Amino acid sequence: MTTVMPSSTSTTLVHPASEQAAEWWRTAVIYQVYPRSFADASGDGIGDLPGITSRLPHLERLGVDAVWLSPFYRSPQHDAGYDVADYRDVDPLFGTLADFDAMLADAHARGIRVIVDLVPNHTSSEHAWFRAALAAAPGSAERGRYLFRDGRGPGGDEPPNNWTSVFGGPAWTRVVEPDGTPGQWYLHLFDTTQPDLDWTNPEVHAEFESVLRFWLDRGVDGFRVDVAHGMVKAPGLPDWAGTSAMIDGAHEGETGSEDGSTGAGNRGPMWDQEGVHDIYRAWHRVLAEYDGDRCLVAEAWVEPLSRLARYVRPDEMHQAFNFSFLTTLWDAPALREVVTASLGASDAVGAPTTWVLSNHDVVRHASRLGLEVPGTKPNGIGVGDPQPDEELGLRRARAATLLMLGLPGSAYLYQGEELGLPEHTTLDDAEREDPTWWRSGHTERGRDGCRVPLPWAAGAPGYGFSPTGATWLTQPASFARYAADVQEGVEGSTVETYRAALAVRRELALGSGSLAWDESLTGPDVVAFTNRDVLVVANLGPDPVALPQGAEVVASSVAPATAGTGRLEVPAEATVWARLA
Ligand code: GLC
Repeated sequence: MTTVMPSSTSTTLVHPASEQAAEWWRTAVIYQVYPRSFADASGDGIGDLPGITSRLPHLERLGVDAVWLSPFYRSPQHDAGYDVADYRDVDPLFGTLADFDAMLADAHARGIRVIVDLVPNHTSSEHAWFRAALAAAPGSAERGRYLFRDGRGPGGDEPPNNWTSVFGGPAWTRVVEPDGTPGQWYLHLFDTTQPDLDWTNPEVHAEFESVLRFWLDRGVDGFRVDVAHGMVKAPGLPDWAGTSAMIDGAHEGETGSEDGSTGAGNRGPMWDQEGVHDIYRAWHRVLAEYDGDRCLVAEAWVEPLSRLARYVRPDEMHQAFNFSFLTTLWDAPALREVVTASLGASDAVGAPTTWVLSNHDVVRHASRLGLEVPGTKPNGIGVGDPQPDEELGLRRARAATLLMLGLPGSAYLYQGEELGLPEHTTLDDAEREDPTWWRSGHTERGRDGCRVPLPWAAGAPGYGFSPTGATWLTQPASFARYAADVQEGVEGSTVETYRAALAVRRELALGSGSLAWDESLTGPDVVAFTNRDVLVVANLGPDPVALPQGAEVVASSVAPATAGTGRLEVPAEATVWARLA
């Protein structure tokens, strides 16, 4: 049955348009490139910088404003490059500094800005500093760059506190002292090979300011700051009975709360400590010395949104990922609530809101939204787990993306989502590389399923990912259907849907636009708002929703149908953007 909506409109403005929004990052659509899985030029099966350069025309045609590159620095790759051994060099897997410079110049020539990843919470255990720390004595300056502590209990056999690693298992590893005796312990919130730095040490501050300058001098437009809420720990490293997981399982089944938070958040003594803000104030000053509105974006799994907004106060970072939006279930009231709360929290500090649905750490939204409870967020999906409904998931994912891109602020896309790529949910466990899989005692499959090399050409070996057909993870056979070349120029394909939406978003300046809830269209299954003069209607329910008389469609996740009444209708599980004549 069609829901016929009254034609009179009543709206509630929650965010005015911001015509003075001068800096590019306030409205930018930023595309995350995960270098090892984007495009491989060398043929070794692992993506690289020349591969990225070769595919920049795809990104230019797509119409994104910037790319963010996950780490490509020297690294033993125990956590896919988030374990950095040298912050000032490119890992040979990905190419050379000259390859980076060439990629940056090409991107800039195409009007695409480039943000790089900065990993300041921890180094690799192969970083020169950590090697020196292992060789030095307890209490030495070398150990003072990390969080070395004596153990508890007889002989110091127990870890210094009870913290657990985000990837599972204890957050402490004991070292053998240079004289061969069992020694101190060091803290690692992630893998054993990722020792946490001590951010109370001025040397650490000086080093990272120098790293910032190294990349700013090369011309990067900003930094995505890894684990931005974790660098400072509570004094004394007190025991904590809770979990140290960054991504809180409490989100499952919740529909949100008053403040827009979707779960318990991370309240432990390792997260969101006051001291982190001093670091970002200092970094803000460094970036301000450079021209071109360079920016910092926080990866901070912090709730409620009012806490997250503290990272983007005027003298701190510029953006923070909105994970509250990402973790909201496919539920109209919950989505309205999180959008209102997000805009309210960021408006209060004069920062843009960001929106994000997928990244390299979560199950792709085309698969999350095909789960029995759409939007729940398992830490990976394996062959024995309930499998998502692929078709429904994709339909909803496109609707979710159109909803997201209709919102004012900045939006992040994750490579492959413009192809509608699903998670690889049947990957052979023997192939898994995410340390989560083994550190959790094989209970959490982890993130490999969203990191599978992209399909560029349906008929080529490895779907055109590399010239040899090699791929570091096996692609599922279904990737043939999603390959970029079979979607190019095909009306209604996912890539053309993204391209069209991005073009309209840019042309109508929706990024700097407004948000007013359309109360007359809103319903239990409908999210409806206007941004400037564009009406965005997301229909999460099974029945079509009629658009007002005279609506002219400017973009849609699925083409609207015309009802017997002559009115256009938003189909089930679809989003339509319309202008009213
Ligand atoms: C961030 C990254 C993730 C990495 C972790 C440790 O959450 O996004 O991929 O494993 O930090 O660096």
